[in-house]
Amino acid sequence: MTESQASDAFVAFDRVQKSYDGETLVVKDLNLSMPKGEFLTMLGPSGSGKTTCLMMLAGFETATHGRILLDGVSINDIPPHKRGIGMVFQNYALFPHMTVAENLSFPLEVRKIGKSDREGKVKRALDMVQMGAFGGRRPAQLSGGQQQRIALARALVFEPELVLMDEPLGALDKQLREHMQFEITKLAHDLGITTVYVTHDQTEALTMSDRVAVFDDGRIQQLAPPDELYESPQNSFVAQFIGENNTLEGTVKEIKGDLAQVQLDDGGIIDCKPVNVSKVGERTRVSIRPERVEFDKKRLKEGTHTIKAEVLEFIYMGDIFRTRLSVAGNDNFVIKSRNAPDQTRLTPGETIEIGWLPEDCRALDAN
Ligand SMILES: Nc1ncnc2c1ncn2[C@@H]1O[C@H](COP(=O)(O)OP(=O)(O)OP(=O)(O)O)[C@@H](O)[C@H]1O
Ligand SMILES: [Mg+2]
Repeated sequence: MTESQASDAFVAFDRVQKSYDGETLVVKDLNLSMPKGEFLTMLGPSGSGKTTCLMMLAGFETATHGRILLDGVSINDIPPHKRGIGMVFQNYALFPHMTVAENLSFPLEVRKIGKSDREGKVKRALDMVQMGAFGGRRPAQLSGGQQQRIALARALVFEPELVLMDEPLGALDKQLREHMQFEITKLAHDLGITTVYVTHDQTEALTMSDRVAVFDDGRIQQLAPPDELYESPQNSFVAQFIGENNTLEGTVKEIKGDLAQVQLDDGGIIDCKPVNVSKVGERTRVSIRPERVEFDKKRLKEGTHTIKAEVLEFIYMGDIFRTRLSVAGNDNFVIKSRNAPDQTRLTPGETIEIGWLPEDCRALDAN
């Protein structure tokens, strides 16, 4: 990241590393630059460093190396009460001795907002999380999901410029969760709040975010808008982490521009897009989405390579058919097709030929 990129961004991580014990790096090399108003989600396995990044951005942990800037100023140089950051932690951390309404009023008092304004804002925030009737209770008198909603309301009540949320909807049922997903993104967009959101739920990440950062092992593996992440994963980790995905292993046989031919270990040849491979003879793991596999010859382009597959299982799911195949030694190769009048239902035991558009099959690293 150049000096000017880092200072133009509203939030910037510039070559950030973090070690808690002075030995192992739990954040290895983090570069991230967010414009004002962006909704960014961090997604990744447990222990990959997401909470650590939020804590550093909030100024509660210091980076071992590198810089974190908020509106061009190093976070460590901004006193905590001037940071204007709303936060929801993985544990809700409400003030136990205060009522719900007092919990929400507190960040407003700290910011010297007058009593009548405070009451209106507290009411609106409680209504947003459907907790309007609970203002007089203490946190210990609430369920986990209710506490989580109060924590969320408290983070947003003072209309902060930056909000950090660590699994804020983890304790909620599906319906409430979907309602809150909608409320959070709407509020963030309406008020132009910049948001860093952490979740384990892929669907949540894909539906709520402007961009998603996929973390693994203290690094961002890919940072991209949801559609790009799903359709153009840059490496095997991202391909397998996001959405359902089929993989096959083989060796690059030929590369011509945007088209690679890969010889599978059982001898079959498939057409792919070379993404992480550059030369003939290289090992690769190819990745293809279940909905992009075709078994109807009529729908395949002339000259497309096909390979044999044995049908193992057919599952009727209402709107779609999900069929499990054995392909080149992989017995978990799944295809999905829309339940339409002209769509064939495959029968277990049957042998078919499958193929795809070369651009839908990505030749990635073999790791
Ligand atoms: N205060 C701490 N002291 C020492 N090690 C820590 C501390 N906090 C986190 N770690 C370690 O740092 C690594 C990253 O932890 P972090 O909490 O950032 O992961 P995470 O991505 O948020 O995981 P999860 O999805 O489980 O919440 C882990 O290996 C964790 O054990
Ligand atoms: Mg965490």
